[in-house]
Amino acid sequence: MAGNSKRPVNVAILGATGRVGTELLKVLEQRKFPVGELKLLASARSKDQTIEFCGKKYPVQEPSAEAFKGIDIVLASAGADRSKEFAPLAVQAGCIVIDNTSAYRMDKDVPLVVPEVNGHAIKDHKGIIANPNCSTAQLMPVLKVLHQLGGLKRVIVSTYQSVSGAGKEAMEELELQTKAILNDQEYAPQVLQKQIAFNLIPHIDSFLENGYTKEEMKVVQETQKILELPNLAVTCTAVRVPVVISHSEAVTVDLERPVSPAQAREALANDPIIEVWDTPEKGIYPTPLEAAGQDPVYVGRIRRDTSSENGLNLWVVADNLRIGAALNAVRIAEYLVEHKLLKQPVAS
Ligand SMILES: NC(=O)c1ccc[n+]([C@@H]2O[C@H](COP(=O)([O-])OP(=O)(O)OC[C@H]3O[C@@H](n4cnc5c(N)ncnc54)[C@H](OP(=O)(O)O)[C@@H]3O)[C@@H](O)[C@H]2O)c1
Repeated sequence: MAGNSKRPVNVAILGATGRVGTELLKVLEQRKFPVGELKLLASARSKDQTIEFCGKKYPVQEPSAEAFKGIDIVLASAGADRSKEFAPLAVQAGCIVIDNTSAYRMDKDVPLVVPEVNGHAIKDHKGIIANPNCSTAQLMPVLKVLHQLGGLKRVIVSTYQSVSGAGKEAMEELELQTKAILNDQEYAPQVLQKQIAFNLIPHIDSFLENGYTKEEMKVVQETQKILELPNLAVTCTAVRVPVVISHSEAVTVDLERPVSPAQAREALANDPIIEVWDTPEKGIYPTPLEAAGQDPVYVGRIRRDTSSENGLNLWVVADNLRIGAALNAVRIAEYLVEHKLLKQPVAS
């Protein structure tokens, strides 16, 4: 794959100490991405840290224009404000930025990409390529298959999103709060909006004037952009649940043409990044625990929507840190290498 490159690729990770940054390093190593120089960037809080990658220790540095010199690809996951500040400097220094944050996703000059769904959009980049929001990313391959099969008319999504989607501090909050409550102690929410232990929160990101949250509208708008269906009817309710890793989604689709659950199951099973786990009578359906640390998008509970003419209901589960962030970003990087799209071409 990425090993087709004749020279190693110089990589910087902005947000290397975060939950997504940590997963990016793991995925680069697992997929044997041909990393040459590696710069690990984070806030001043982490500047004395070192991080191991492929058996070698790397210092953590603060980001600066200087840090991007000689780098081919910047994988950015330090929040939207940092991407707004540093991505232009990185592009100026000759890098391609693959951005995990929401900073540029809806910018018309920035391709928003799930490589297996709309990889062709990558070549149109002007220095920045955006990774979708985690709950959108896992939905895209599933919706693409269903669109090809029956023509999408309307999509209704309810998400069950793990705390790792809100970063390392939210993960710690769930753990410490659960322990405290089991010991009859109080633990006031500091990162999430309300108590998450033994609870769930229908509130991810901020509320907008239309009554939706930003997270919900990201699913709507990003889906329309990635599938190149600007008028597709999409609606979403996004909920944070006390799960550590993996987002789950209850999805209802209305299709133009009738598609049976068996036809949907077969078409989805033929997709290279989807696994169908759908023998519910034998207890076979995906759960977040089973998806954590894995690469596929899992689909189960495929059944007719008895309330609509050409409707199907599905249950979609994937590791938000991998499919929803690090794996998707590294797959974009691999695409750039394979298609010789780096700014400094690989030597022949
Ligand atoms: N978690 C997910 O499933 C997911 C999925 C898709 C996209 N994203 C997006 O990816 C981004 C990171 O998410 P995360 O979950 O990895 O968050 P996180 O665990 O909280 O990590 C945040 C990272 O940003 C760094 N950072 C913060 N302020 C900085 C500054 N002023 N200068 C340089 N670095 C700074 C942090 O460094 P320190 O350790 O030094 O503080 C840390 O490395 C967010 O924009 C998020 O929306 C997350």
